[in-house]
Amino acid sequence: MMNFLGIETSCDETSVAIISGDRLTSNLISSQHFHHEYGGVVPELSSRAHLQILKPLLEKALSISSLRLKEIDVICATAGPGLIGALLVGLTFAKGLAFSLKKPFIGVNHIEGHIFSGFLMEDKPVFPFITLVVSGGHTLLLYVKSHNEIIQLGTTVDDAAGEAFDKVAKLLGLGYPGGAKIQELAEKGNADEIDFPIASMNDPFNFSFSGLKTSVLRYIQKKYLKTDKIPEKDLNDIAASFQKAVVTALIQKCEKAIKEFNTCNSISLAGGVAANKSLRSELTKLVEKYHKNIIIPDLQFCGDNAAMIAFRGKSLFESGVRHDLNYNPYPSLKENQFLSYQ
Ligand code: KG4
Ligand code: ZN
Repeated sequence: MMNFLGIETSCDETSVAIISGDRLTSNLISSQHFHHEYGGVVPELSSRAHLQILKPLLEKALSISSLRLKEIDVICATAGPGLIGALLVGLTFAKGLAFSLKKPFIGVNHIEGHIFSGFLMEDKPVFPFITLVVSGGHTLLLYVKSHNEIIQLGTTVDDAAGEAFDKVAKLLGLGYPGGAKIQELAEKGNADEIDFPIASMNDPFNFSFSGLKTSVLRYIQKKYLKTDKIPEKDLNDIAASFQKAVVTALIQKCEKAIKEFNTCNSISLAGGVAANKSLRSELTKLVEKYHKNIIIPDLQFCGDNAAMIAFRGKSLFESGVRHDLNYNPYPSLKENQFLSYQ
């Protein structure tokens, strides 16, 4: 039985996971909450925090999995996209382990980690499947033919869905990150109170969220003076109406993809925004309407986590991928990155 170590440090979560054979035996996630007070992630502080926590987290993961370091067979770490300094910490740590233990090393694409996170669930996607990856940095609709063939159907032309949540939360004075806070207020508000716009795009599968964000800003500017405190009821209604607009935009494109790629029987959802209750329930309704199977990862596999990195590293290893210790981190996705393993 082989033991795969996964390391994730692309942004503000440090995570270490171990997959033994086919079983996930640990998935530890340490979130850097101190960024809240700066209204966003401070890259240098993030790198330093990863550096401090990574070794103790690895020791804890090994202990939970009842393994010694030398029993790890393959070392997988996120190589990109992400904050370059943060990525360097995890990647260099992983390379150091691989070098000293004389074990194979694999640099994993973070988005590919999210794409296959449905496989960490009991009920797994079946190829070919459609997946919607919605995070702070990306909004991607993908057609996944196999472990090695991923076709991008659509992406955002401006802000990512999570970024829109975060920016609107900031406008409403809710702090960073804003997704979960908007959801909390939205649950108490009326989603039909304000008609925020949903961008109509030329490309059938692309998204745009910056107009929506601007329209929330205009709404607030028109209705309240700078010094006004927005009443609680209004805050709840704005959050609910905004969340409805984002979810509707995402669902509309998913419906188009389900219709166009009707040989796909599994639809999966991934990324930090996949934690959103309204998105989870609306997508479930949609997929059930078409008598398909929905796979939505548990919360621990939605946001950034190393279980998905270990899983993706394992499937790459099994397809023969090995990276040498010169493998460099990359801050953004390269052109056709998803096809690079064909
Ligand atoms: O995947 P992730 O953890 O990190 C990136 O790779 O970006 O996603 C983080 C994003 C943030 O924008 C956060 O506001 C959003 O996921 N998020 C949510 C919820 N929980 C986290 N958005 C909407 N509703 C939520 N419940
Ligand atoms: Zn992510």
